[in-house]
Amino acid sequence: MTDVHTHPAIGGYVAGRPKSAALYERACRIFPSGVTHDARYAEPFPLYATRAAGSRKWDVDGYEYVDYWMGHGALLLGHNPPAVVAAASEQLTRGTHLGAGTELEVRWGELVQRLVPCAERVKFTSSGTEATAMAIRLSRAFTGRDAVIKFWGHFHGWHDYATVGMRPPFDVPVSAGVPAAVSASVRALPPYDLDAVRAALSREDVACVICEPMGASTGTVPFPEGFLQEVRDLTRRHGTALIFDEVITGFRYAPGGAQEYLGITPDLCALGKIVAGGLPGAAVAGRADIMAHLEMREDPQWNRYRRVPHPGTFNANPLSAAAGVAMLESIADGAAQRRASVVGERLRRGFNDALAAEDIPGCCYGEGTMFHTVIDLEKRRFHPGEPVRCDGAEHVEALLKSHGKDPVASQLRLWMVERGVDPMRLGGFPSAAHTDEDVQETVGAFREALRVFKRSR
Ligand SMILES: Cc1ncc(COP(=O)(O)O)c(C=O)c1O
Repeated sequence: MTDVHTHPAIGGYVAGRPKSAALYERACRIFPSGVTHDARYAEPFPLYATRAAGSRKWDVDGYEYVDYWMGHGALLLGHNPPAVVAAASEQLTRGTHLGAGTELEVRWGELVQRLVPCAERVKFTSSGTEATAMAIRLSRAFTGRDAVIKFWGHFHGWHDYATVGMRPPFDVPVSAGVPAAVSASVRALPPYDLDAVRAALSREDVACVICEPMGASTGTVPFPEGFLQEVRDLTRRHGTALIFDEVITGFRYAPGGAQEYLGITPDLCALGKIVAGGLPGAAVAGRADIMAHLEMREDPQWNRYRRVPHPGTFNANPLSAAAGVAMLESIADGAAQRRASVVGERLRRGFNDALAAEDIPGCCYGEGTMFHTVIDLEKRRFHPGEPVRCDGAEHVEALLKSHGKDPVASQLRLWMVERGVDPMRLGGFPSAAHTDEDVQETVGAFREALRVFKRSR
């Protein structure tokens, strides 16, 4: 556990937040490292929040923040949008688990089917991790092959197969406890090397290629132009399923997700976050012939050898279904995505102007609603406003580092928190609820943090 009293971080953050510090000390006696999601770990201690509304949230010490965590990306409409609150509140009084199908789950599935291009069939799960695990298993059942191709830094949750190829030098799983036989069935490739994809697919043992369609780790490492279309063509040629992990991108880049935005239709996709309106819930959607492996049939041979069973206590639970229906109905016309993208664009421009004005080597980048910031003091490989290079191992590793525990980015983030803005790393998820005033405050806090940083060097 970090000693909050001796940590060298800014005095103001520590001194001004005694209640968060005290909760963290209690939490460390219960939860390993004191946190309930690894991404919420922060030194000297994380914030403890009490409530949120629109683009803002408040902590136990009474501070208000412009929030860019936005439910880890689930809250495209901001916190507590009235339609979702009304639908979930009403369902709460009608029952949270009815031990039966509901009309809500049917409406929820119909909405996914209508919005998402590849969604000939849909199945709900409780988390994005479950959804990517199911998609991989379905691809294996359908093709009769075992191997999985993924890309460096592409995050697909925390199940065994997703642990491969996450951290440079990408040679061991990011987690202990993963059987060697399991990790050996997954090949992690550089996310810019089409020859490596061609070579891997030519072995004709690959069940699926799975990727985050807008690039590794929430778009931190975008694919080079044309890469994904080529992967689509190659997978089709080799009878390999292409899985888009749209847990982040689904419904965000367009009502039909990244597949609509890019005009590339995968065979299967995993959906999460926005799909359940801010409550727990996720889904797999895709081609009817692949999804058919979830069917129960009369044929005992099918049930014994070809079928993928799918229990799950909270699958399509009525509370998540009510929130999900309200959310998907609210975002179906694309207006929320357009507003959140305007916010994203203004933040990127403002951050780049601040980096240029303070002469800090780095870049704020991203597409649509997303913004990421890479600070690269020594090697100066990224420049404000210029497209980030992601076509070599060195650049990919630098970008992934900015998404991880980069000490400079962590320090800048804390200074922003002190100024009333809570970014996720130095970026996050702008929502349709963020205002022009929020953008101004955020850019101002970033610029101020850069100035303090320069003075402290
Ligand atoms: C791209 C991607 N896939 C899968 C997951 C896992 O989803 P969950 O946290 O719901 O298990 C996440 C979570 O952030 C994600 O970003």
